Amino acid sequence: MSRLAFVLNGPNLNLLGKRQPHIYGHETMADVETDCRKTAETHGLELRFHQSNREYELIDWIHEAREVAGAIVINPGAFTHTSIAILDALNAFEGVVIELHISQVHKRESFRHHSYVSLRADAVMAGFGTQGYTLALQRVARLLDAAG
Ligand code: DQA
Repeated sequence: MSRLAFVLNGPNLNLLGKRQPHIYGHETMADVETDCRKTAETHGLELRFHQSNREYELIDWIHEAREVAGAIVINPGAFTHTSIAILDALNAFEGVVIELHISQVHKRESFRHHSYVSLRADAVMAGFGTQGYTLALQRVARLLDAAG
């Protein structure tokens, strides 16, 4: 399987480090990308890292991943709880899908407890802070190693 992984981030995550740091921490998206690139290099993964506030852009990247990637790590932000379109796009992707939330969504408002994306995700991470991204990539590397 391809050792290319996409890390996709949804709406408002461009404000990471600035918005509600008591919930999302002080690291910025740029810091997260740097950490992800280091982890990817250590584990022999190629990486495409994106953030968008637009649902269609996330869908287009999932379609792109469908052609070339072995895994997607996705933090869909609030689209997690609303987007059947992102679920449909992920259902058309055959590789590994890890859903990631920086915060522990199950400890928060009840509208955050439901995820459309979880219907497709092979694993779900919540509450690991921004460290979750590098942990998710380690898992991706392990799964891609096992897939050969
Ligand atoms: C989030 C949790 C979502 O409920 C929220 O809308 C976000 C971020 C997280 O990373 O904890 O934007 O996905």
